[in-house]
Amino acid sequence: MASSTCNHVASPTTTNNNNVQMDDDLCTIECTVCTGFEEVAREEAMEVLGVNDVQVGRGHILIKMPVKDATKVLTLNGIDNCVVRLHKVTDFGFTDDEVECMVKLQHLVERVNWKSGIKVWFKFFSFHLPISDEPVTTIPIDFGSVIPSSSIKTLPKQAKSNRKDYGRHKRTKLEKKALKENKDVAGVTEKSSSPENDLSEPKDLAEQNIVDKHENSSAEPVLPPPEKKPRVKHVDPSKPSFRATCYRTGQNHVFNSMCAAANFGGAVQTYFGWNVEMRNFDIEVVLTIVDDDVAVGIALTKTSLHRRLITDFGPTTLRPTTAYNMLRMCKIQDGEVVCDPMCGSGSIPIQSAVCWPKAINICGEIHPRAMEKIAANIKGVNEMRVEKSLPHLSLSVLRWNACKMPLPDQSVDVFITDLPFGKRCSIRCFGRVGSRKDNWKLYPAVMHEMARVAKLDSGRVCLLTQDKKCMFKCMQHFTKYWKKQSYIWVNIGGLIAGIWLFRRTGLKITGQPIPTLWHASVPDDCEKNMPLPDNAIEHQAKKKTPVSKDIADE
Ligand SMILES: C[S@@+](CC[C@H](N)C(=O)[O-])C[C@H]1O[C@@H](n2cnc3c(N)ncnc32)[C@H](O)[C@@H]1O
Repeated sequence: MASSTCNHVASPTTTNNNNVQMDDDLCTIECTVCTGFEEVAREEAMEVLGVNDVQVGRGHILIKMPVKDATKVLTLNGIDNCVVRLHKVTDFGFTDDEVECMVKLQHLVERVNWKSGIKVWFKFFSFHLPISDEPVTTIPIDFGSVIPSSSIKTLPKQAKSNRKDYGRHKRTKLEKKALKENKDVAGVTEKSSSPENDLSEPKDLAEQNIVDKHENSSAEPVLPPPEKKPRVKHVDPSKPSFRATCYRTGQNHVFNSMCAAANFGGAVQTYFGWNVEMRNFDIEVVLTIVDDDVAVGIALTKTSLHRRLITDFGPTTLRPTTAYNMLRMCKIQDGEVVCDPMCGSGSIPIQSAVCWPKAINICGEIHPRAMEKIAANIKGVNEMRVEKSLPHLSLSVLRWNACKMPLPDQSVDVFITDLPFGKRCSIRCFGRVGSRKDNWKLYPAVMHEMARVAKLDSGRVCLLTQDKKCMFKCMQHFTKYWKKQSYIWVNIGGLIAGIWLFRRTGLKITGQPIPTLWHASVPDDCEKNMPLPDNAIEHQAKKKTPVSKDIADE
C-alpha cells in the first residue's frame, strides 16, 4: 500500500475531538509497545504498513491508516496490543467529586463514534448478526445511578503491599494457579498509575472477587462458603457480549480504574443493550484515562501479540515483541551471523530466525532447563509453520558457556542478548545461575569473549540488562574493543532496563578479562551521560525498588 493512499481523506470527515480522525476510509489504531521502543515501533509501522502518519506516545504508537487495511497491524512484530481509537478528550474535567466524574464518564458513551469502531471491529472478528450503532433507549438517556468505588471490592491493603514486594512475596496457591492460567493476579485491582501495565490481559471483577475471598479467608476461621443462588443472567442472543476495561494513569483521581470501568461499561450496556460477559466476550471496550485525558476505543487483540511465537514461557523469558525491537536496532543484513550467547527460552534467536531468515542464526545457553524450553519453543513454531506450508526455522542451538564459546575468532557479525539481570534471576532463574554478584564476573567475561568472536570493525553487540551499575562498570574496561553507538531505557515488567548497542573496534583482543568488577568504580560521567528518563525514576521509586538499595545490599 502506497503512503499516498493513506493520505487520502474521504468526505465527509468528522473529527469528534482532538486527534481522532473519523471517516469511512481512515481509522486510528493505538498499538502498545514496550516503553522505550516507541520510535523503533513507529519506524516499523511506517515501513511495513506504508503509512506516514504515525504518532508516538509513552508506551504506544498511534497509526492512522485505511480501514480496509486495518488487519495489517497484526503483521507488525514489535507491538503487543491494538485498540481502534474512537474518541479522545483532552482536559476532560475530572473533579474531586467521584459521582460527578462517573456521571461524566457515563455520558461520554453518547459522544463516541461507535459506527466507525464497529466497522473496524468487524474486520478482525465476527458476529452472526449486524451490530447496530444506534442506542436502544430513548434520548435523553437515563444511565441510572452511579456505582461508587466503595461498592466495588478491591484487594485488602495488606495483600496489595505484599504484591508490590518484588521477589519477597511468597505466592499463594491461588496466585500460582492464576499465573499458570496466565493471569496477572498482582494487577487485578488497579489497572492504574503505570502505563507499563500490560494492556493485554485486563482483569475483571470475577477474578477480583476470587482473590478477595482468598485473602480474607487467611485472616478468618475457615467457614463453609454460604450457599449462593445461581445468578440468572438475561442474555439477548441478537446482541454481542462485551466487557469494559479501564487503564488509568495519574495520581489525582478520586476514583479507581474498576469504578471507571464499571460505570462506563454500565452506560455502554444501557446504550446498546449488549450482554455483559467478563471472559468470553465478543467486544472489549477500552477506556484509557491519563491524568485529565480520556480516550475510548475497541480492542482489536484478545491476547497480546507477544504470545504469537513463544509457547513455553520461562521465568525470565523476554517478550518476542521486545526481542524484535532489539533485533531491529542491530540493522541485520542478509548473510550476517547473528548469535544470542545466553538465549534462555529463545525469544531473541527464534524471532530473528523468523524475521531475518537470510541471516545465519545461532544461539547457546548453559542451563539444561532453558535448553528444554528453547527446544519446545522451536518445536511449537515449526508446527505452526508446517500448517502454513512454511519451511522449518533455520536456527542452530548449542549448549555452551558464553564465556568460552566454541566459535572461531572474528566469526560473528551480531551478538544480541538479554543478560542475566540478577534481580529476577537470583530469585527465580533456572537453578543457581545469575545472582547480582555473579554478574560482576560474568559480564566482563562475556564481553571479552564476544570481543574475541565478533568481526573486527563491523561486529555489533546489543545488550539488554537491568543491572545498570554492573554494565556501567563493565563498559569502561572495554572501550578499546567496543565503541558505544546508542542506548535506550526500556521498561521490562516494571523494571527499568538499559539496552546498549556497541560496535567492535578494529583492535584485536589480547590478554584475559578482568576477573571481577567487584573493585571497579562506576565512572562519574556514566549516569550523567545516560540519565534515566524522569518517569523511570518516578516509577521505580513508586515500586520501592530503588537501584541504590540493591547496590547497598551487595
Ligand atoms: C535473562 S535470561 C535470558 C532470557 C531469554 N532472553 C529468554 O527469552 O528466555 C539469561 C540467560 O542466560 C543464561 N546464562 C547465564 N550464564 C550463562 C553462561 N555463562 N553461558 C550461557 N548462558 C548463561 C541463563 O541460564 C539464562 O537463561
